[in-house]
Amino acid sequence: MCGITGFTGKQPALPFLLQGLSKLEYRGYDSAGVTLVNSKKLTTWKTKGRLSELEKLLEKELPQSCGIGHTRWATHGVPSNMNAHPHMNEEGTISVVHNGIVENYTTLKEELIQVGYHFHSDTDSEVIVQLLDFYYKKKPVMKEALQKTIRHLEGSYALCITTIFEPNTIYVAKKESPMVLGRSKEGTFCASDAPALLAYTKEILPLQDGETAILNKDGLEVFDSKGRPIEPRYITFPYDIQSAQKGGYDSYMLKEIHEQPSAIRETLRGRFRGNQIILPKIEELEIDWNSIYNTVFIACGTAYHACIYANTIYQRYTGKMSYVMPASEFRYCDPAVDEHTLCIFVSQSGETADTLAALKLARAKGCVTVSVVNVLGSSIARQSDAVLYTAAGPEIAVASTKAYTTQLVLLHVLILKLAQLYGIRVKGIGKLIKDLKRLPELVEETLANDKTVKKYAGMLKDEHDAYFIGRQLDYPSALEGALKLKEVSYVHADAYYAGELKHGPIALIEKNTVVIALATQPEIASKTISNIKETVARGARVILITDQDMEAKEFKYVIRIPDMEPQLRVIPVAVLTQLIAYYAAKEKGCDIDKPRNLAKSVTVE
Ligand code: AGP
Repeated sequence: MCGITGFTGKQPALPFLLQGLSKLEYRGYDSAGVTLVNSKKLTTWKTKGRLSELEKLLEKELPQSCGIGHTRWATHGVPSNMNAHPHMNEEGTISVVHNGIVENYTTLKEELIQVGYHFHSDTDSEVIVQLLDFYYKKKPVMKEALQKTIRHLEGSYALCITTIFEPNTIYVAKKESPMVLGRSKEGTFCASDAPALLAYTKEILPLQDGETAILNKDGLEVFDSKGRPIEPRYITFPYDIQSAQKGGYDSYMLKEIHEQPSAIRETLRGRFRGNQIILPKIEELEIDWNSIYNTVFIACGTAYHACIYANTIYQRYTGKMSYVMPASEFRYCDPAVDEHTLCIFVSQSGETADTLAALKLARAKGCVTVSVVNVLGSSIARQSDAVLYTAAGPEIAVASTKAYTTQLVLLHVLILKLAQLYGIRVKGIGKLIKDLKRLPELVEETLANDKTVKKYAGMLKDEHDAYFIGRQLDYPSALEGALKLKEVSYVHADAYYAGELKHGPIALIEKNTVVIALATQPEIASKTISNIKETVARGARVILITDQDMEAKEFKYVIRIPDMEPQLRVIPVAVLTQLIAYYAAKEKGCDIDKPRNLAKSVTVE
C-alpha cells in the first residue's frame, strides 16, 4: 500500500516528509516523490525506486515549510518516474498524492480529455488533480473544489493536496484508505499511518471515511462528508514506532492475518456487475476459448495449494480437463502442452524462479498464459499474456496469509469468468457471487474465534508432529494448514486425504497425537467424520474445523466457520489454520515473521 506524509508549520517540511516516508517503507513501494510549496513556487521531485533515489534529486537545504510526500505501491501503471506521485495539474499550481484505487478513473479521464485536459501518466490517481483543477477554475475555493471532486470518485482514497494559491495549507480527504493527522507546536501533520508521526507527536487524529480536513501551520479543522465542521477527536497513541508499523500487532504475520477482510474486499472490488464477471484483461485476450482443450495450474508453495483448490473448482464448474503441478516439476518434465493449453500461474511475489521458468517454458510451447500475482509489474506479471492482480498489499511476513486467501478468491472469480467464456452456466452462480461479496465480513466473523484457536493451539506446544486431514476441497486446506504450521512453529505437520489414512498413515496415530480435521464439505462430511473417529479410536486429540450444521457433540475441540457456499469455505478454514500456526509458534517462542531457512521470495532455484 502507498505511504503518504504531509506537513505545514514553522520549520522546513522536507525532513519530516522523508523521515515519515522512511517509517512507512514497511508498506512496500516502488517509487517516491515530494512536493514543496511556498508563496513563490510549487516544486515536485519524484522518481522510480527507493527513497534514497529521491534524496539524490533534492538539494540539502530546502526551506519550504509546507509539503507532501508519497511512496507508491503500484496498482495502475507500472513503476516509473512519470507514474510516481505527486501528480500536478498542467500549470503546476496544484499537487496531489493519493493512496487507494479510483475504480471509475477511465470514465473520468475520458470526460476530462473531452474538455481539453492532457494526461501524462498511466495512473488512476492523475484524474484527481485534473478534476481539482477543473473545479478550482470554475470557483477558486479549494475546499469546495475538493468536495466536488471526491463526489465523483468511486473506490478508495486517502488524499493530500497542496496549492501555490494557499502555500501554507494542506487539504486532506479519506475514504477506505487510511489517513491520520497530528499536531504539535511546530505545525500540523498527516500520514497514511501513525508510525510516520510518532517521532513528532503522540496526539493522533485518525480521519474517518468521508471526512476532509484543512491543515494550517497553527492548527487543523475537520469536516464531515457534507463539509460541516466537526470537533477533532485526538487519541494519545499507545504504541512505539516499531509496534505501530505492525498496527499494534506483535508480528506482521498476525497483522496480515487480520488484514484479510480488507485484502479480499480490495481484490474483489469492481469484479462483478450483477452476475457478470468483470475481468477486462481476460476478455481482451484474442483467443478462441473453444480451442482450449486443457488447463494447467502452476505455482510453488502456498500458491501451489491455491492451485490445487483452483484445479478442483475448474473441473467442477467447466467439466473440462485440467491438472496442477509444482513449477519446479513442470519446468523439467517436458510437459505435454501446446497452443491448445491454458496455463495459469500463481505467485505472490511474481519473481519466484521456478514459476518464472515454468512460464517461459509454457510460452515457448505456445500456451496461453495467465498469471495471478500480487506485485504489479513483477517479472511473472510482465511475461504473461494476461495478469490478474490480487490486492493484498505488500506481504511482509515470510509465511503467506493474505496473499493466499486473495489468490483463492481471485482464482475462483477467474474460473467463473472462464466458464462464461466457454459458454457454460455455473449452477448457483448468483448465490456464489453473493457469498463472495460477503467474504470480508465472513472472515471478520471467523477471526472472532481467535481466543478459542489460541486455547486449542496450546496443545501443540510440546508436540513434534501434527496431522491435517480432509477430503475434496478440504484437502488443499489441509496441505496449506500443514505448511503454515511447519513454516512458523517448526512442528512437523503432514496433510492427508482423510480417506487415505487407513492405507498407511494411520499407523502414525497414537495416544495424544494432534489431528486437525477439516470437515466443511457437506456431500462428503459423513465419510470424513468416520475417518476422524478412526483417529480418535487410536487416542488422537482432534481439533475439528467444521460448518454450522455438522453434528459434533462427541468432539471436544470444535471450531465452526460461518455459513456460506461450500466452495468458499476454504477461505475461513485458511484463516483458522493460519491462527493455529501463529499461536503454536508464539507458544514455542519462534521468530514468526522470519522463520529459519526461509526467504519471502525464492528467486533462485
Ligand atoms: C508461503 O507461506 C511460503 N512463504 C512459500 O511457500 C511461498 O508461497 C512460495 O515460495 C511461492 O512464493 P510466490 O507466491 O511469491 O511465488
